[in-house]
Amino acid sequence: MPKPRKAKRLAPAPRTPEVTIPKLTPKRFYGEGIPGVEEEKLKGKLIVVEGADGSGRSTQIAQLVQWLEGSGHATVQVGLKRSSLVSEELDKAQQGNILSRTTLSLFYATDFADQVENIMLPALKAGFMVLADRYIYTLMARDLVRGMDEAWLKNLYGIALVPDAVFYLNISPEQLVQRNFAKNKALDYWESGMDLGLSRDMFDSFLKYQALMARQFTRLQATYGFDIVEADRSPEEVNADLRRKIESVVAGR
Ligand SMILES: Nc1ncnc2c1ncn2[C@@H]1O[C@H](COP(=O)(O)OP(=O)(O)O)[C@@H](O)[C@H]1O
Ligand SMILES: [Mg+2]
Repeated sequence: MPKPRKAKRLAPAPRTPEVTIPKLTPKRFYGEGIPGVEEEKLKGKLIVVEGADGSGRSTQIAQLVQWLEGSGHATVQVGLKRSSLVSEELDKAQQGNILSRTTLSLFYATDFADQVENIMLPALKAGFMVLADRYIYTLMARDLVRGMDEAWLKNLYGIALVPDAVFYLNISPEQLVQRNFAKNKALDYWESGMDLGLSRDMFDSFLKYQALMARQFTRLQATYGFDIVEADRSPEEVNADLRRKIESVVAGR
């Protein structure tokens, strides 16, 4: 009897990158939120990258987008002062330095709310990864440094969704100065807190202001529990850390 012929081994199928289907974890707002939103339908993930001016947020987010898109996740980016509704007006108001602190806060909150409603919520509903370059914590820290009431701010930002992860890129003010000079050859008026009159010298003011901001972030960390990532490393090392953490978030661990 002829021996049964061995089945010919098939060539292995070409490897396609594995897509981790984001595990559905319940979303909620910090406060009252936005009426009519069905939180349980928000399938995507909201990942926030916080950190001072020059801490490397843009650099990290650009790499994360490439990585996420390359592994099959659609992404959307949001940030402060990026709404189509008020970002231009906000710029003008800042240039003229004409608004009171409360009005400026409300302007920023409007910009934020517009992006929640028109970008973040639809994207999360469609299962996107939403990457936020700064979030309500920066807005709160800036206002807290300027003596505004914490309870008032918390209430104002009750419209914000609780993110799936918040990474705070931690780095010393001295290194921030170096990076900002390397990038722009100058410091930014607002990022140096020049409106506060801490010093007439912008360099000195930047160091003082960033130290005050860092202190507020430490306080907010106690409430909001950011994941602190040491940003005083090569961009690749920081990114490897972020990827590992985001993988856990996507898998719902
Ligand atoms: N890990 C890093 N080490 C050294 N330089 C960095 C690092 N990450 C970013 N930079 C550089 O520092 C500057 C500020 O980075 P950027 O990503 O624009 O910061 P941010 O968006 O937080 O203001 C840029 O010139 C960038 O190339
Ligand atoms: Mg940036």
